[in-house]
Amino acid sequence: MRKNIIAGNWKMNKTVPEAVELAKAVVAITKGADADVVVCPTFVCLSAVNDVVKGTHVALGAQDVHWEKSGAFTGKVSCDMLKSVGVKYVILGHSEQRTYFGETNDTVNKKVKAVLAAGLLPIICVGETLAEREGNITEKVVEDHVRGAYKDLSAADAVKTVIAYEPVWAIGTGKVASPEQAQDVHAFIRKLLVKMYDEPTSSVIRIQYGGSMKADNAKELLGKPDIDGGLIGGAALKAEDFNGIVRA
Ligand code: PGA
Repeated sequence: MRKNIIAGNWKMNKTVPEAVELAKAVVAITKGADADVVVCPTFVCLSAVNDVVKGTHVALGAQDVHWEKSGAFTGKVSCDMLKSVGVKYVILGHSEQRTYFGETNDTVNKKVKAVLAAGLLPIICVGETLAEREGNITEKVVEDHVRGAYKDLSAADAVKTVIAYEPVWAIGTGKVASPEQAQDVHAFIRKLLVKMYDEPTSSVIRIQYGGSMKADNAKELLGKPDIDGGLIGGAALKAEDFNGIVRA
């Protein structure tokens, strides 16, 4: 049985004091939840948020990483640096990284390998734009994202990963995918993982939905057989809203 994983992607929001306050509220309000709970603040807030969540049921995630270990890569952060501040999960290949910062399937693959080699767990984002959905190439785009991210990855490593299916047209727009639309793509990814690996591997990899998930639509989405949690943007910035999804 796959355990749901609800992760808050705080994106470029919250100063350090604000992040600490939100993390404290999330720890208190989500206590006893029947799901894995993760918060992903910005790099500068990781250490302070770790002081809040360390030893609690809430795990710490980062929003990106560089694949090299160290060196002349101005502005970048390594896996070891993330580990040193208590990070467990790393979001990779988010559509905002792909759209604004030149992320490709190839760089996602390098990051996935570096994260796993460091003993961290990747949350790999995949998903189509509105034009791609309207052009009926959703499955092709999602397949390219998944195959790209998992290139040369063993089944033993693949089982440690989480996928976040995030239709780009649903991110931050209030236009959530219908539970059926989401389930169709999740089932497609599940079958693809069987082709790439095998049934046992595919059946343990958790696939989150992301894109305008809110307390009032979470229950229906999470009720679908292949939806194993959520990657939450806007609704993760208030502890009550986030908890509404966690409880769903
Ligand atoms: P949203 O963002 O919940 O604000 O749509 C989700 C995400 O980008 O991870």
